[in-house]
Amino acid sequence: MSNSPLLDELSLRALTGLRQTPKRLPSMYFYDDEGSRLFQRIMCLPGYYLTEAEREILAHQWPKLLDAFTPDGRPFELIELGSGDGSKTLELCAAFDKTGVDFSYVPVDISPHALGSLLRAFDQRLPGLRVQARTGDYFSGWRQPGNGQRQIVMFMGSNLGNMPLDEARAFLNQIRSHMQEGDGLLLGLDLMKNPHTLLAAYNDPEGVTAAFNLNLLRRLNRELGMNFKLDRFSHYACYSPLDGTARSFLVSLDKQTVRSTRVDLQFQFEPGETIYTEQSQKYSPAMIRQLAQDSGFAPKLHLQDGQGRYCVSFWQAIKPEMVRHMVPNASQA
Ligand code: AVJ
Repeated sequence: MSNSPLLDELSLRALTGLRQTPKRLPSMYFYDDEGSRLFQRIMCLPGYYLTEAEREILAHQWPKLLDAFTPDGRPFELIELGSGDGSKTLELCAAFDKTGVDFSYVPVDISPHALGSLLRAFDQRLPGLRVQARTGDYFSGWRQPGNGQRQIVMFMGSNLGNMPLDEARAFLNQIRSHMQEGDGLLLGLDLMKNPHTLLAAYNDPEGVTAAFNLNLLRRLNRELGMNFKLDRFSHYACYSPLDGTARSFLVSLDKQTVRSTRVDLQFQFEPGETIYTEQSQKYSPAMIRQLAQDSGFAPKLHLQDGQGRYCVSFWQAIKPEMVRHMVPNASQA
């Protein structure tokens, strides 16, 4: 890699992952333009219930959220990490807006393209709402809110599930470190459930998830001049009820060698060898309470969809000194 000083950080992480044993790729690498389009299609699949379940919770139970965000009517700033094009949050903001509550919306996303569509859609539907889009890193552009607004941070879509639990804990602690006591955190989290249901969500008969997974190799070919043969790899998904983790892999169908024209590296694959491409953690209510406690929050609301598949969890930032006084399970959500 020494002859390629111009690699961006994500490409470097991808190459580093391919050199590890077992091989892996960062799940952030999914979301190039084609990957983002494929993910949009996944969200419409009948077996991928997560999107619909989260939408149902927000559509039916938003008054409870609004009451938890501002029990005293204090103005608040809604910061959404990884907003994408905001189409899922637009309905929530429209419902809040109708009540006349004073709030502003701060979508944060790596994709300027998605934020562009977001701004157009919000301007058309909610022209009176203050929207301040921020592109790039979640934390580097973080500002303190103006004139006594409470900050409510949203991280939806069970995106937290892509992080191993220790990484998720560190990420939540990092969010907490930017917040004031009394601020809020809203998380969309997928719940543990029947493993058949879970497996079907990541192994659709339509093959869209397989195409999404294989698109990683197409991106490596395009951006790093690699020569992966897409038809010599297959999508494999599994779910373990023991730890609540769904995992995706790409399986090499032959013994093969893959090279790059951009970097002086080659990768050997044995027949059946895998690349670990994604984990999607599923949570129990007890795990969610524990995560909150480990990162300086008290769980305040636990909202589920009608079928109990998914939850939207609202936590309040507490004094760091409070954490050690908390007894396990004392903070029932
Ligand atoms: C957007 C990361 C939450 O893990 O369920 C969907 C991505 N991967 N199907 C998930 C995904 C395969 C999704 N997240």
